[in-house]
Amino acid sequence: MSAHTPRAVEEDDIQGLVRFGYRKLTQASFLLLRVRNAASARQWLANCPVASAQERSPPPRQVLHVAMSCPGLRALGLREDVIQGFSREFLAGMSSDESRSRRLGDLGTNAPEQWHWGGRPDAVPHVLLMLYAWPGDLAAWQQQVLDGCASGFELMACLDTSDMDGVEPFGFVDGISQPSLDWQRRRPVRDEEVLDYSNLSCLGEYLLGYPNEYGEYTDRPLLRAELDPQAMLPRAEESPELADLGRNGSYLVLRQLRQDVGGFWRFVDAAAGGDPVRRELLASAMVGRSRDGLPLVESTGTPIEGERDPINSFTYEDDPRGARCPIGAHIRRSNPRNADLPPGGWGPISRLIRTLGFDAQALALDHVSSTRFHRLLRRGREYGEGLSIEQALAGESGSGQGTGLHFICLGASIARQFEFVQGAWIAGTHFGGLHGESDPLLGNRLAGSDGAPADGFSIPADSGCDLRLAGLPQFVRVVGGAYFFLPGLRALRFISKEP
Ligand code: HEM
Repeated sequence: MSAHTPRAVEEDDIQGLVRFGYRKLTQASFLLLRVRNAASARQWLANCPVASAQERSPPPRQVLHVAMSCPGLRALGLREDVIQGFSREFLAGMSSDESRSRRLGDLGTNAPEQWHWGGRPDAVPHVLLMLYAWPGDLAAWQQQVLDGCASGFELMACLDTSDMDGVEPFGFVDGISQPSLDWQRRRPVRDEEVLDYSNLSCLGEYLLGYPNEYGEYTDRPLLRAELDPQAMLPRAEESPELADLGRNGSYLVLRQLRQDVGGFWRFVDAAAGGDPVRRELLASAMVGRSRDGLPLVESTGTPIEGERDPINSFTYEDDPRGARCPIGAHIRRSNPRNADLPPGGWGPISRLIRTLGFDAQALALDHVSSTRFHRLLRRGREYGEGLSIEQALAGESGSGQGTGLHFICLGASIARQFEFVQGAWIAGTHFGGLHGESDPLLGNRLAGSDGAPADGFSIPADSGCDLRLAGLPQFVRVVGGAYFFLPGLRALRFISKEP
C-alpha cells in the first residue's frame, strides 16, 4: 500500500478525454496515422494543440487528442529501454498473438486477419488523432489538421462517426453508466475488503502515476533523471528521483465493432413470435436496460457512493437469480456491481463465514470477481447510419460502410480492465455460474474449446419457468482494433523531442 504524500492533480497535464466525454461536440473523427518521416512527425506533435482536462469557459468548439501505439512510439524514435517500461499487453498489441485473440473472442469472423485495420503489424496505426467538434466545425478543421501533419504522417484510415443522439445503433440509450473518478483524491488508498459497491474509483485506475484500487502505483516507464536533463517530465510520486513518463497518461483501447442491426431485431422479433411488446422485453433483457435507458432492477433506495444519476443507483444484490435483470445481460456482465465480499450482515461472525466461503447462498453471488478492479471509462462513438426497428425488420441495411460502434475505453491497466472484462465477462462462457452462453450482444457464438455451445441466453423468471433462447447469431463483428498510450501533455512533448 502506498504511503506517499499525494500531490495535487495536474489537470493541465492530463488530456481532457479522461475527464470529459464532449457530448456537445457531436461531430468527431478518429484519424489513424503511420509515421512517414519521424523528424517531421515529432515536430508536428510537439506543437499540436492538445486539450487538457482543465475546465474552459466558454467550452471549446474543437478539441484534439493524441495517442500512440507501441510501434508508433518506436517509429517516433523513443528509446527501446524506455518503451519496455510500458505494460506487457501494450507492448504486445491487441492482435499480436493467438492466445490473446482467443481470450478476447477475436476468432472466426472476428479474427484479426480479417480486420480492416490493426490486424497485421503493418496495419497497426502509429498515432491516433481524435478530433471532436461542434456541429458544422469538423470538416474544414480536419482537412487543416491533415494538411498540417502530412509531411510527418500518412493517413491510414479516417474513422468517421455519426451523431445518433445518444443512442447506439441497436437503438438503446448509451453512455449512461460511467465510473466516477476521485479527482479530489479523497478515496482512501487501501487494499482491504470493501463491502459495498461504490461508483467512486481511485484516480490510479485510469491515470498512471497515481495509486490504484490496490493502493499501488501501476508499472509504467520511470526514467533515470539524466534521461530527462531538462526536467520536462513530472517526477514520480513514489520515487521523486525518477522522471515519470506515465504520469497523467492512460491506456486507450479502440475497437471498431460493426453491428448487424437487422440481424439483431429480426432474431428478437422471431423469438418474440412477432409480438412487439415481447420483442421489447426480450431485447431489454439482453441489454439489461430498456431502450430508453431504464434499468431492469429497482433503485437500491440508498445512495451509491460516487453516483449522481438516480438512473444508475442500483445493484443486483436483491436479484441473485437474475429474475429482474438476467445474469448474462450485457450491462450485468460488463459491470456486475458487486463488492469484495458477497452481501450479508456486517457483524464479524457473518463476515468471517462469508470470507471462509461457508455461506452457500453467498457463494453463488461470489462467482464473479470484485467489480472495483475492472471498471472501464468508456468514450466510444457510433458510426454509420441509424435505422429504426421497422427499417431493420424490413431488411434495410443503411449505407455501405456499415453501422456500429468505435468502442473506446481508458484505463491504467489494459489487462485488468479491458482484457478482463472483454475476455472473462463478455466473451467468457462460464460467467456468474452460467454455461453455454456469452454476452448476448457481443458474443462470437463459436463453441468453446471443449465443444460446449456459446450461443444460448437464459432469462430466469420468479415463477421458476425460466426461458432459454438458443442459437443466437453473431450480432457484432470486430473489424479493427489497437492499443494506444494517451500521454500526459508533458510526456507528449518529451516523446516529440529529438531522441
Ligand atoms: C457494439 C457493441 C456494444 C454495444 C451495442 C453496447 C451497448 C451498451 C448499452 C446499450 C449499454 C447501457 C447504457 C450505458 O450504461 O451506457 C452499455 C453499457 C456498458 N457497456 Fe456496452 N456495448 C457494446 C460494447 C461494449 C464492450 C466491447 C464493452 C467492454 C469491453 C462494453 C462495456 C460496457 C460497460 C462497462 C457498460 C456499463 C455497465 C454498467 O455500469 O452498468 N460494452 N453498453
